[in-house]
Amino acid sequence: MSAILMDGKALSAKVRGQILEETHQLEQRGVRPGLAVILVGEDPASQVYVRNKEKACAECGFYSEKYVLPTETSEKELLGLIAELNQNERIHGILCQLPLPSHISEQAVIAAIDPKKDVDAFHPVNVGRILIGDYDFVPCTPAGVMELLDEYNIDPKGKRCVVIGRSNIVGKPMGLLLLHRHGTVTICHSRTEQLADICREADILVAAVGRAGFVTPDMVKPGAAVIDVGMNRVDGKLCGDVDRAVAEVAGYFTPVPGGVGPMTITMLMKNTLKAARRAAH
Ligand code: GUN
Repeated sequence: MSAILMDGKALSAKVRGQILEETHQLEQRGVRPGLAVILVGEDPASQVYVRNKEKACAECGFYSEKYVLPTETSEKELLGLIAELNQNERIHGILCQLPLPSHISEQAVIAAIDPKKDVDAFHPVNVGRILIGDYDFVPCTPAGVMELLDEYNIDPKGKRCVVIGRSNIVGKPMGLLLLHRHGTVTICHSRTEQLADICREADILVAAVGRAGFVTPDMVKPGAAVIDVGMNRVDGKLCGDVDRAVAEVAGYFTPVPGGVGPMTITMLMKNTLKAARRAAH
């Protein structure tokens, strides 16, 4: 079997086009969506992500501000900037790129962002709302995966869904979104025993491990949808968590690059538009 490729680049372009139209409508009511992105330090991967977020803002017609702060920035200084942005009426969404330098508490920074501007959906209030299924902001990577599944008419209802990875950013919220859509969800991680056997039961398999080529064809049920959240650099080349040979077994798969990655940023734009729309009311 040769799997159907789930084209996140094409879907992103379509959704960004819809967002641009809505931006024009909002502007007629005097509101232009605004996103502030903060980067502390010089992590090369983070620099690329932040640049891509700026580009996406331009494509969607958003106002954007970028703050690039030196690694030595104190937690107090960063919290001060966030407090200002919380009050800034031009800014509807605030994103502080993770990871932060080790002397800054990520939890303190996330908690300082006004939950109404927390377009990452990382604030404990928003995390709690996702848990109970009453949320406005959806965490961007899992939201991007759900949009891709919907685009290809893959319904998690009643299906075996396996997520590999239990991070706060991807694995845990991914499991919850699939559960809200009536999937039967298993979250696996580095201590999981018989991981391959569990993966082989999955109709929908989401890999968010951070290890290149971790998911091999023997771990995949024939015809399954295999979603690759991995962004690994191997010899300077971007590759996912899923071995390319999986495409011979799976029914659907997401490429890296061009699968989940562009969707994540598009979902950030969607959350920012949502925040701006709320501010317009
Ligand atoms: N670092 C890696 N992914 C993300 C993300 O989705 N949001 C933020 N703020 N930092 C990240």
